[in-house]
Amino acid sequence: MGRKPKKQMTQFNKKVPKTDDKQFKSKTHKVITRLRGMRDILPDEYKYWNLVLKKAESIIKYYGFQKTEIPILEQLSLFERSTGKQTEVVSKEMFTFVDKDGDKVALRPEATPGLARSYIEHGLFNLPTQPVKLYWIGNLFRREKPQSGRQRQFSQIDLEVYGEANPATDAQLILIGYLILKEAGVDSHIQINSIGDKEDRDEYIKKLLEYFRNRKIRALLSPEDKKRLQKNPLRILDSKEEGTQKALEGAPQIIDNISDECRDHFMKVLEYLDEFDIPYTLNPNLVRGLDYYNRTVFEFWPEDSETGRQNALGGGGRYDGLVEYMGGRPTPAAGFALGVERIILKMKDNNIPVVNEEVDIFIAQLGEAAKRKAMIFFEELRAKGYKASQNFVKDNLKAQLEVANKLGVKLALILGQKEIMDNTILIRDMESGMQEVYSFNKVFEELDKRLK
Ligand code: HAM
Repeated sequence: MGRKPKKQMTQFNKKVPKTDDKQFKSKTHKVITRLRGMRDILPDEYKYWNLVLKKAESIIKYYGFQKTEIPILEQLSLFERSTGKQTEVVSKEMFTFVDKDGDKVALRPEATPGLARSYIEHGLFNLPTQPVKLYWIGNLFRREKPQSGRQRQFSQIDLEVYGEANPATDAQLILIGYLILKEAGVDSHIQINSIGDKEDRDEYIKKLLEYFRNRKIRALLSPEDKKRLQKNPLRILDSKEEGTQKALEGAPQIIDNISDECRDHFMKVLEYLDEFDIPYTLNPNLVRGLDYYNRTVFEFWPEDSETGRQNALGGGGRYDGLVEYMGGRPTPAAGFALGVERIILKMKDNNIPVVNEEVDIFIAQLGEAAKRKAMIFFEELRAKGYKASQNFVKDNLKAQLEVANKLGVKLALILGQKEIMDNTILIRDMESGMQEVYSFNKVFEELDKRLK
């Protein structure tokens, strides 16, 4: 007869040593860590997210925007066409792959192209209410070098308006971004510029190239910026390189080379901002790194930051040509996005307080019969809409009241053997420490009185 098969040790029945030690290292299994630049959001961090998104959404909805969702994965050509093949985002930073059907696909690096595609694909220009105002909140992926405020997976709050060319739209978008930041406890300063229409830019680029024909000036450029000058000359303008900044000192400025119509549009935007009393700086070198913009471009920089471009809290602008360029009918449009992680970093710097989800009542129990009653009572509280909490695995009353204290509840409801026998309940005011006995049948009446 064969030998009894040896009991196989799988990952499930292997004895796992108990430990609370963060330094614990398994002798048998290497820990699989997250990918570089990707992020986890732990519960403590989520408090900030909840606060920002709650405040943001209440403002966004007030201005008539409707929530929308788009796929994480899109055709690579969507971003090549809209964001632009020569942009850093598309040429260097996208996560792309060929899927099993041979389609070239990309994880979305920004939401604007997907939203415009969705607008065209679903014929939203036919909606009875125009302009179409959409907002989107979600994850994006850019394969950048990770550092503080720059991850490979990050989130944006993105707003887009389709079908409205009026400068009031540009100003209102800026106002909304500014308000969201302010409500989150983050002061910002708007950087703004106009890059005119395509014809203005084509003419301006000629002038810029002419300026850089001067060898002495060109020699000041870093090798990277020399390449930019050939491939995407406008990006020279917002280069961080010191040499390039110096080289630009005598360069023609785009704002002096835009049509009267564009200038008029821009002046109106600025006038509205003045009306709203929003702090802004005219930044002639702000061009933004994505291909679709025309006329107004803007960024939200932290109030106290000199190097805003590196850690801008958000940015956007007008993009009147994009929808048509993507195959839709001519549709003026504008939008912006805020980076959620960067807002949260600033909130933490500013010590903005975040609170636990509010809980009013803690239900404590002592003894098996009381525990059972408490468990059912806890369900009743939920069904009736009370904000309650419990810890049914702790049997010690003192330990339970400590939890109640930490949660900051107003009232603890205590059920013990005696209360079960008498059909009563103890209500303890956590602030004063006073506790009184009530008939169990009167408990909701008393809760309503005390929680008013
Ligand atoms: P963007 O300037 O590329 O614009 O991104 C907007 C914001 O997203 C940035 O200001 C920053 O706060 C955040 N962000 C960007 N990259 C990262 C990263 N790697 N890590 C953390 N945060 C980041 C756009 O994406 C445009 N689609 C905005 C827009 C909407 N324009 C018109 N409509």
